[in-house]
Amino acid sequence: MNSSALPEASVPAQPDALGARSLRSVWHPCTQMKRHELALPRGIIRGDGVWLVDTEGKRIVDAISSWWVNLFGHGRAEIKAAIAAQMDRIEHVMLAGLTHEPVVRLSERLAARTGLGHAQYASDGASANEIALKLSAHSWRNLGRPEKNRFIALRGSYHGETLGALGVTDVELFRASYSALLRPAAILPAPDARQAADARQRERDIDAACAALDAYLQREAHRTAALIVEPLVQCAAGFVFHPASYLQRVQQLCRHHQVHLVADEIAVGMGRTGTFTACEQAGIRPDLLCLGKGLTGGFLPLSAVLSSPQIFDAFYDDDIARGFLHSHSYTGNALACAAALATLDLLDEARLEANRTLAERLDSLFEPLHRHPRLRHARRIGMIWAWDVERPPADFARRFALAALERGALLRPIGGTLYFLPPYVIDEPAARHLLEATLGALRHTLDGAGGPGGSEQALA
Ligand SMILES: Cc1ncc(COP(=O)(O)O)c(C=O)c1O
Repeated sequence: MNSSALPEASVPAQPDALGARSLRSVWHPCTQMKRHELALPRGIIRGDGVWLVDTEGKRIVDAISSWWVNLFGHGRAEIKAAIAAQMDRIEHVMLAGLTHEPVVRLSERLAARTGLGHAQYASDGASANEIALKLSAHSWRNLGRPEKNRFIALRGSYHGETLGALGVTDVELFRASYSALLRPAAILPAPDARQAADARQRERDIDAACAALDAYLQREAHRTAALIVEPLVQCAAGFVFHPASYLQRVQQLCRHHQVHLVADEIAVGMGRTGTFTACEQAGIRPDLLCLGKGLTGGFLPLSAVLSSPQIFDAFYDDDIARGFLHSHSYTGNALACAAALATLDLLDEARLEANRTLAERLDSLFEPLHRHPRLRHARRIGMIWAWDVERPPADFARRFALAALERGALLRPIGGTLYFLPPYVIDEPAARHLLEATLGALRHTLDGAGGPGGSEQALA
């Protein structure tokens, strides 16, 4: 959007006051609060398109879509209007024994787009994954196989922060303090295209990961309910990509050994990798599929779990205990469903096609980063770009994030991995601004600080 079109921001007398009050009253997520002593949380007073406006009136390009949720820009008119219209009808009503138009329409549309059905709803990604894991184990139980109740996750996996989701998450920093509370999944190797010197090595790595899965399933399938994967990109692992062919082989192995495949598309769904779901690129249909984050275009918390008919049928019974007795108070919230419907209207095939063209244009624009002497493994899929910093200095992620914010870009590297995951409406001026801010922040954090370090895992 045109920066000059931004109306004057209303600036409080003391710009820092909001951040200071926040530190006294808000426990910020994924944050060591003591570290905020050096830099107060930045107060944001409004958003417009890809831009955020802080309490000092500074404009910041939201290059990570506010933790990967925003698809069509802040304040997107169509989504606002859909929520407002729904507000005049019914804002929320419980979904047990009752239903409403937006939840039915949304479920029908998600089924049409994914080939899976009977959508269940939660508010966030972690809760959606919890539902999927419970559905998998409970369906085996209903089929007379209660011993099939363990899970497999991939190395570096991230599925959320609730206890069940952490059990299938392989990020030591997030798990370690809670290890006594978790029921850990089996963690199996995942291919990482960056580790291979060439295409042949990449194929061998995929063969090795599949052989490890096959060997594990030969031993443990009788006790395993499901394998959970982040299709095509393990985002929180540092944007680790794998090819669609790997997913096809994973699905074949799961089918062969009678283990469910759960596709956690919380981060990669909703067009992020170039297609509506990432699974589409592999031509696979998982047993359970989770969507979240971008589902409402970044307006309201909503996640969905879609099931295969076989899973649904395993619960359809006269016996109440064989039903799925799971609920959240706000399940299927009507405002969130209205936002999701407006988001789906915007995310049609023409938009996905336009994204492909846009991504290619941005690819050329980001050439200075692809060629940057301290960046390696330039990679992109859909509307995700990532680079690894060579020999990142200690505390790189945090220092870079602060330097980028000073230069008007919201960026939060994961460890030594720098990434862009912008709203689909980023235009060329905003992308140029982002590039300049990134190059400036790289100069600031890397020049003269090129020594080894960076062992500290940065927060996503
Ligand atoms: C793949 C994946 N699954 C689940 C989650 C958790 O989602 P939420 O933060 O909405 O609970 C995330 C969050 O980043 C994610 O990337």
